[in-house]
Amino acid sequence: MTGKRLPAKVAVLPSAELAADAAAGQFVAAAADAIRSRGTFIVALSGGHTPQRLYELLATPHIAAQVDWSRVQVCWGDERCVPPDTAESNYRMAREALLSHVPLPAGNVHRMRGEDDPDQEAHRYDEMMQRLLGGSGSRLDLVLLGLGTDGHTASLFPGADAVHDSTQWVAPAFSEAHAQWRITLTPRLINAAAEVVFLVSGADKADMVARVLQGPRAPHDIPAQLIAPIAGEAAWILDGGAASALGG
Ligand code: 6PG
Repeated sequence: MTGKRLPAKVAVLPSAELAADAAAGQFVAAAADAIRSRGTFIVALSGGHTPQRLYELLATPHIAAQVDWSRVQVCWGDERCVPPDTAESNYRMAREALLSHVPLPAGNVHRMRGEDDPDQEAHRYDEMMQRLLGGSGSRLDLVLLGLGTDGHTASLFPGADAVHDSTQWVAPAFSEAHAQWRITLTPRLINAAAEVVFLVSGADKADMVARVLQGPRAPHDIPAQLIAPIAGEAAWILDGGAASALGG
């Protein structure tokens, strides 16, 4: 480990629950800022298991009441190429944990159609994002991300340089580890966001968190290192387990 200085925006919480709660606070604050300044809040949700508790917290009445959901547009950072009613669907998890519990207009939910052809859906979603973000200075207000133990984030997998370097905003991606096609936002769009927040919990992620934040730069192998928002460093919200390999 090079013991590199940690980025300024790394928060370590005592538990996964408190990390999810901190991420919920970031979401509420980002939504309020965006709606106050531009009348809308466009967010890309992350998938996998970690954010489920975050979404459940956002759906709790005392937190949900702090968001003007009528002005929120929900997109995804990535999606598995599976039908929306299957257990692996990022959309299904978000719908069950959050979207079906808040007064979000149906037209504000921009699902990646995992059931469709990956190339066609990536193209369609890219065009949708161009239309959606056209009036917002072409950037998302918030991108939520997770981290895989192999260093992937969204569906930017190790070695997939064509996806990493894509000039598109959305691309199809094949996950060797999952033997599965995905749709993913590209670093080009993620790094244009006003705010990027990684939420990572669990000691199984500790070594990779340390490699991403303090190890040598190796984005080909560690795609999470491709995330370098133009607007400023990404924020990392970690529980103690995920932070346990970080140098002082
Ligand atoms: C996905 C996610 C992916 C996820 C990491 C961590 O579709 O799987 O977008 O990038 O954030 O794989 O997943 P866990 O939270 O399940 O560990």
